[in-house]
Amino acid sequence: MKSMYDDIESVMISKEEIAAGVSALAARLDEDYGDKFPVLVCILKGCAPFFTDLIRAMKIPLQIDFMAISSYGNGTNSSGQVKMNKDLDKSIEGRHVLIVEDIIDSGHTLSYLKNVLLARQPASLKICTLLDKVARREVEITPDYKCFDIGNEFVVGYGLDYAEKYRNLPEIGVLKRCVYEK
Ligand code: IMP
Ligand code: MG
Repeated sequence: MKSMYDDIESVMISKEEIAAGVSALAARLDEDYGDKFPVLVCILKGCAPFFTDLIRAMKIPLQIDFMAISSYGNGTNSSGQVKMNKDLDKSIEGRHVLIVEDIIDSGHTLSYLKNVLLARQPASLKICTLLDKVARREVEITPDYKCFDIGNEFVVGYGLDYAEKYRNLPEIGVLKRCVYEK
């Protein structure tokens, strides 16, 4: 049997740590958005596991919508070029919008997204991310909410991929260098 774990150097964030991070974040969002009936926007595909866990940990009324963006190709470095593959279904004009991302790296993806969504005149627009690679930032972008800061390692799992693989790993792991340095 082939196992994804053969390609994983080490587990960086365990299932338990992820669950604790998600529930702490959900509690903060419940406080801050309690009377705002927000729209939570899931950025596909990487954010899907985080998003579904997060919304189910929240208790307030909310709506969800989905957007698909690609920026990375199959490499481990951002091209800086962002493409929208699927837009939101509904208008966000006058709504309190929270973008939910898996990871902020160079910041290009979110800075593009922020501009696209701000142009639609939401009542407010904030950013929430599972992981933040602060040291790799190329454009200024600061998330309003985040679960974990991480270093420069390329990580996979819990939605994050390398060449569309490893998204179904239940924890966040560091990918062995030999997998992408071929
Ligand atoms: P940015 O535009 O450089 O901020 O890139 C954000 C996107 O790059 C994320 O949505 C991911 O798809 C991808 N990405 C950045 N770092 C990693 C990583 O360590 N593992 C997997 N994907 C990553
Ligand atoms: Mg990706």
